[in-house]
Amino acid sequence: MDCKREIPVLISAEEIAAHIKELAARIAEDYRDSPGLTVVCVLSGAYIFMADLVRAVNMPLTMDFVRAKSYDGTTSTGTVRVELDIKTNIAGKDVLLVEDILDTGRTLLALKEIFLTRAPRSVKTAVLLDKPARRTAAIAADYRCFEIPDLFVVGYGLDCDEQFRELPYVGIFTQT
Ligand code: XMP
Ligand code: MG
Repeated sequence: MDCKREIPVLISAEEIAAHIKELAARIAEDYRDSPGLTVVCVLSGAYIFMADLVRAVNMPLTMDFVRAKSYDGTTSTGTVRVELDIKTNIAGKDVLLVEDILDTGRTLLALKEIFLTRAPRSVKTAVLLDKPARRTAAIAADYRCFEIPDLFVVGYGLDCDEQFRELPYVGIFTQT
């Protein structure tokens, strides 16, 4: 893989910033009566989106971090294991799970189900990107910035083997 090559832009940094601003305003409005909002970043891909989103949401909130790994295995559903769990007691709280991309949907559905067992007031999801063409799990994002076609994308936190996360835009990755 040639790491120095140009990655073509799918969504520019300016478009991302504009959509995050809109999303943040909706979130602040929807949660204005919340007894406590905990925003949970799904590591690692969502960390840049999370950082920009929480700074744009004009209300008090707390943050936490979760890391999940999904194994394809031999079944079509596969399994998702939590590798790093949140420290926050979410009982009675509103939880907003922040993820980079909703692809098959398995990761976010599994995390949502795990968090729902902990007596939160609510669990919702916010994703930067939604790739509905590949959805297999019964989940739709409550908040999303962009719907994209079935392309492998990198940048703005998303990686290919840990590379390209630092790109300020979302680009299209193609194998060379
Ligand atoms: P699900 O469980 O929805 O998985 O299938 C979502 C996770 O899959 C990864 N993913 C991608 N990562 N470019 C990436 O860099 C992509 O186009 C892509 N599609 C899926 C990502 O880690 C996400 O959290
Ligand atoms: Mg991810």
